[in-house]
Amino acid sequence: MKTIEDLEVTGKRVFVRADLNVPLSDGRITDDGRIRAVAPTIAKLVQAGAKVVVASHLGRPDGEPKPQFSLAPVAVRLGEILGVSVSFAADTVGESAKATVAALADGEVTLLENLRFNAGETAKDDAERGAFADELASLADLYVGDGFGAVHRKHASVYDLPARLPSAVGDLIATEVAVLKRLTEEVERPYVVVLGGSKVSDKVGVIDNLLGKADRILIGGGMAYTFLAAQGHEVGKSLLQKDQIPVVLEYLERAKKNNVEFVVPVDVAVSADFPDTKTHAPVEDFEVVDADRIPADKEGLDIGPKTQELFAAKLADAKTVFWNGPVGVFEHPTFAEGTKAVAQALLDGSAFTVVGGGDSAAAVRILGFDENEFGHISTGGGASLEYLEGKTLPGLAALEG
Ligand code: 3PG
Repeated sequence: MKTIEDLEVTGKRVFVRADLNVPLSDGRITDDGRIRAVAPTIAKLVQAGAKVVVASHLGRPDGEPKPQFSLAPVAVRLGEILGVSVSFAADTVGESAKATVAALADGEVTLLENLRFNAGETAKDDAERGAFADELASLADLYVGDGFGAVHRKHASVYDLPARLPSAVGDLIATEVAVLKRLTEEVERPYVVVLGGSKVSDKVGVIDNLLGKADRILIGGGMAYTFLAAQGHEVGKSLLQKDQIPVVLEYLERAKKNNVEFVVPVDVAVSADFPDTKTHAPVEDFEVVDADRIPADKEGLDIGPKTQELFAAKLADAKTVFWNGPVGVFEHPTFAEGTKAVAQALLDGSAFTVVGGGDSAAAVRILGFDENEFGHISTGGGASLEYLEGKTLPGLAALEG
């Protein structure tokens, strides 16, 4: 793969495909980790006198402009982080983008509006995607791929555009890939994986692959209730993917054969209703129950204290840890304890730790931990999972080609 150093960028229009898909609440950025992660690449290009055209998606606006998915607040934050003014184009390949790019002087930066406001970005049809990539290509002379969080998407700006311009990999993607190689090629044992998040179906591929690689797999979050149900427990109103129970049973069986230890919650924090994660209104009926005693009218929303201790013990001697997905509804303080306990256990241990997944990475920062104390906080959720599944990622393949 070519790097930025292999390109002659001075005076050239350089298209940087970033992943600036940050969480927003009422138009306010609640975690700017992904902006900070790609800023050094942009700063390097500014320093070298390039005209930098940054582009990203935000959310899933389904191919049409929707104000709540505008990247405008991100342009402001990017400018603050870089310490330069960042102009903003009100469209992706229209009049505003063309004029904004044409107005760039050497060392200046512009951010285009959300790429997914154009249906061509995510189109399944190669010709439709290609046509949008052609329009994007007309805005630049060179391409730098640095949106690690989106490399698993076969989208116009990720997959088709690099084939149309001289291309290089950005520093963020280079770092992310080097780190993930440590989890696949040179893993130090014990290798412990913590998986959370809501759906088992999102993690099926990675669990399948990890059953041949990890020593222990700790399961928390909404997905844990499908594991508990598979073990014959009642899970009340908890999140449950019934159709995944046979898959989970097969995994538990295979884990036994492969000497992989599956650790599921032994107690959980429950409530009758999902908590209000905006107002943080107190949860009156909150209680901790054993995992085989979840009341029929309540749902599990976090791992309990016994499970927190159990997870900490299972992480204590780890040499390598991959953590994807919060183990509870950390956005509400009552159900943040489990996720905090996992983060703390990682800091207390001495493992090489990779925190992957937009949610767990944001959780670490929002809960007040110092991200620099973790080995690596990945900017990719689905992307890091698919990498660990051993899949070919379109955005990386395109940069190799
Ligand atoms: C992510 O948040 O994982 C990436 O930005 C990709 O977003 P997507 O799942 O909407 O493609």
